[in-house]
Parts: sequence; C-alpha cells; structure tokens
Amino acid sequence: MVKPSEPRLLEELRQHLMRYRMQPRVQEQGRVLSVGDGIAWIEGLPSAAMDDLLDFEDGSTGVVFALGRRRLGAILLEETERLTAGTVVHRSGRLLSIPVGDALIGRVVDPLGNPLDGLEPPACTRRRSLDTPSPPIVERDFVRQPLYTGCKIVDTMIPIGRGQRQLIIGDEGTGRSSLAVDTVIHQKGQGVLCVYVLIGQKRSAVVSTIETLRRYGAMDYTTVVVGEAFALPGLKYLAPMAGCAIAEYWTRRGRDTLVVYDDLSTHAYTYRELSLLLRRPPGREAYPGDIFYLHSRLLERSTRLSADQGGGSMTALPIVETQQGEIAAYIPTNLISITDGQIYLDTHLFAAGFRPAIDIGRSVSRIGGKAQHPRIKEEAGRMKLDYLQFLELEVFTRFGAKLEETMAKKLRRGRVLREILKQERLHPLPIEFQLAWLIAFNEGWFDDLPPAEVPARLARLEAGVKASGLGLDDRRDVWLQHIKRWLT
Ligand SMILES: Nc1ncnc2c1ncn2[C@@H]1O[C@H](COP(=O)(O)OP(=O)(O)OP(=O)(O)O)[C@@H](O)[C@H]1O
Ligand SMILES: [Mg+2]
Repeated sequence: MVKPSEPRLLEELRQHLMRYRMQPRVQEQGRVLSVGDGIAWIEGLPSAAMDDLLDFEDGSTGVVFALGRRRLGAILLEETERLTAGTVVHRSGRLLSIPVGDALIGRVVDPLGNPLDGLEPPACTRRRSLDTPSPPIVERDFVRQPLYTGCKIVDTMIPIGRGQRQLIIGDEGTGRSSLAVDTVIHQKGQGVLCVYVLIGQKRSAVVSTIETLRRYGAMDYTTVVVGEAFALPGLKYLAPMAGCAIAEYWTRRGRDTLVVYDDLSTHAYTYRELSLLLRRPPGREAYPGDIFYLHSRLLERSTRLSADQGGGSMTALPIVETQQGEIAAYIPTNLISITDGQIYLDTHLFAAGFRPAIDIGRSVSRIGGKAQHPRIKEEAGRMKLDYLQFLELEVFTRFGAKLEETMAKKLRRGRVLREILKQERLHPLPIEFQLAWLIAFNEGWFDDLPPAEVPARLARLEAGVKASGLGLDDRRDVWLQHIKRWLT
C-alpha cells in the first residue's frame, strides 16, 4: 500500500541526490581522554559547543556539557563496553531530539525514544528537540478549563486547571506517586493525553507503576518515559525534557496533555552529580547555580495555548521530595516558586490514617480556582471554611477545654468531614459525585452519622450519582431531591 506522503518523499529524495556534489569534507576528530561514571573527558574538538551531540567510534553517544581550554566534558547517553581512553569522537551535527507522535501512545520508552517494552521501535515520522523554548506570552491563554484528578480534596479545595503546573510535595512514602497515578487513571475519556516520566526509580517501582496504569486501562492514552535508577545519569537527566517534548507535540496540535515528573528531586540529584563530576562550580547545597533555570525552563513549557495557536494545553504535575517536612530546602522552594501551587502531603497525617495525606492548610492552587465550575466552587467554599475552623478547634480542645454545645457540634461535624475526605488509592471519583457529597454535607445530612458509617453512605451516594446521570448544571433542588432519596 502506498501512503499519500510516499511519492512526495521519493521526489524530495531525488531532488536531494540531484543537488549532491562530491567534495572533500573537513571534520574535527577528538579523542577520549578518560571515561567513567557516565561521563567522558575529550580533547581535540576545538569548535564543539555546549549541547552538541557527539558520536563515538564504538557506537556510544554523548552530549557536550562542559567546555574547558584544552578538553571538554561530555555526558554519555549510550555507552558500549568498547568505549575507552583513546576512542575517536566526532561532532554529529545533529540536535538532541526524540521521536514524537501518536505511535508513542501506550508505549514505554527511554529518554532517547528507544522502546523499553520489548516491542518494535515506535513508528514515528517526526522528531522534536528536547529543549525547545517555552511559548511566548502572546501565544498563551488563561487557564479556564478544569483538569479533574478524581481526588475529593484536590477537586474541591485545591482545583487544578488545564495548563497549570501543580507541585506534589512531601516526604518519602506519603503517597505522592499514588496521587499522580490516580490522576492519570482518571483522565480516561476526558480527552487528555498523558505522559508519565519516571526518573531514577528502581525497576520494581517502574514495573509496578506501568502495571497499574495498564490494569486500569490508562495505557490507552499514556506514554511512559523511563530513566531508571541504574541507567546512565545522562538519561535520567534528560528524562523530563523528553517527556515534555512528547507532550508538547500533541499540545502544539491542539490537544490537552498532562505530564507527571516523578520526581524532580532525583532529577536535581542527577544534575548535581553530573555537574560535580564535570567540575562545574557548586553553589547552594552543592547544586550548580543553574538548577533553578533548568527547572523553570522545563516547567515554563507547560501552558494553555491561545486559540490561534490551536488552543492545546500542557498541565504539569512535578513531584518533589522533602526531608522531614522541610519545604524550605533549596530544590523544594525553587519548585514552589516556579509552579502555580502545591499539594502538600504530610507524614503525620499519613501515619494517622488520613489518606490521601493532603495538608489542606499548606496546600494552594493559585490559578485553578478560575477554572473551577461555579457550582463546585460555591459548595466547596462553605465546606472548606468549616473544615479549617474544625482543625483549629480540634487543636484547642486538645488541652481539655470545656465546650459549649455549638462547639461540640462543630467538632462532630468536622470529624465526619474528615472521614468523608479520606479516599482509597486507585479509586478516582467523578466530579458529579463531588458535587453530590458537597451538597449533602453542606445541608448537614452527614452531621449525626457515626464516622464508621461514612464509607457505606458515600458508596450509596456514588451509586446513585452514577445511575442518575445528573450533571453539574442541573438545578440544586433537583440534586437535593435525588440526594435525599439516595441517603434515606
Ligand atoms: N489514598 C491512599 N490510601 C491508602 N494507601 C495509600 C494511599 N495513597 C498511597 N497509599 C500507600 O502509601 C504508600 C506510599 O505511596 P506512594 O508510593 O504513592 O508514595 P510516594 O510518596 O510516591 O513514595 P516514594 O517515596 O516511595 O516515591 C503505598 O504503599 C501506597 O499504597
Ligand atoms: Mg513515588
């Protein structure tokens, strides 16, 4: 079968060959001085520039990362066993790029686009540079459409809009990845293409994430980019840029995309490791001075494009790890200042069984509120106020203060709300359900429920919403009638 583009391709090839002239070509030839730890020192390439792609004679590749007077440092992207001191190196003249296109949907690839799922290389016809400049202001639009995560706390109190960058921050093992995976799973049928970037994780964790995505049908619209723990540091360093480029291709074609960077702490460690090995001057916490620039350049590429640019969007969920809740450390503060808000996961809440362990007081979404449906916004505003008051009151009563009846009632109501907000992982919920429980709670219909009975009551509500087909735009009294029936 001849594809329509093939004759054109043949014609272009013919033209190219007609124009081709045989002539001697001068090319610099470099030599490897030393190699190890994922980097190589090279001499003899005087016109090499930063970010030039290098071809080694043995088949390895690398990219220029440090320029010295006599020698240059390169980070290796592919390394064969034959790479040693003395190996000949050339500048390739190619740019660092990755294959992009719909053939990547459902695939697992490394940051150079090589398949890691044991299948054929993805049949992509286009490539995209890993480091494209972010769209200028005139090409951008406001964030006005919501991106639902399926998480009760996030969708009601810390809403995310399409094109927003929302940081997921917390200590090790507080459920950061789970929240991101649930969000990806919840994009089924929402018209959002997802890219999940795994940076420096153990193979077991990588496999389990991919298996989870597959089991819940999320691989139908998701690409996974992996720079594993024991991969070359160069690959771990490039992974977020690769994931971003893959999503950017779709965004530029008017699609909505979601990219998860899991996680940027590991990315920063890798960048620090490479920079120290290549003798770049260290700055705060021994990170190189341009780590802020690296992360901001990456996250600035997420945006909502204006209508004349196709109206696509790229939402980013970068994940960062804190040590013992210290959000003022260098990398976390950098990322907090770059992103449009953060979801803070707390170890103590996690240990106390409040999961997802989101600390509502310390989490914000600076622009997502503009994209929130007015009905949800109105109901959630009342609920959030109640909850924050309750948290304060609870601290106060720990000292054994005697309470008036109204206060005791507020406490009871808050405790029930806390039960409502708990959510199992892998169970994202539709936005209509969020509206239903918000209304029921605001009407006080959960108030006298023993906390243990909350899950069963919510399950009934969920089944009711599902069967009813009611939408966010239906009138409140219609919702009230239905909810009353489901709950009694
Ligand atoms: N909503 C939840 N309900 C119950 N358990 C949860 C929930 N979210 C996460 N967990 C559990 O908490 C553990 C840690 O979750 P997860 O791996 O997502 O955290 P993380 O912050 O990404 O950890 P890591 O530091 O290993 O990357 C997992 O065993 C997971 O099953
Ligand atoms: Mg994780």
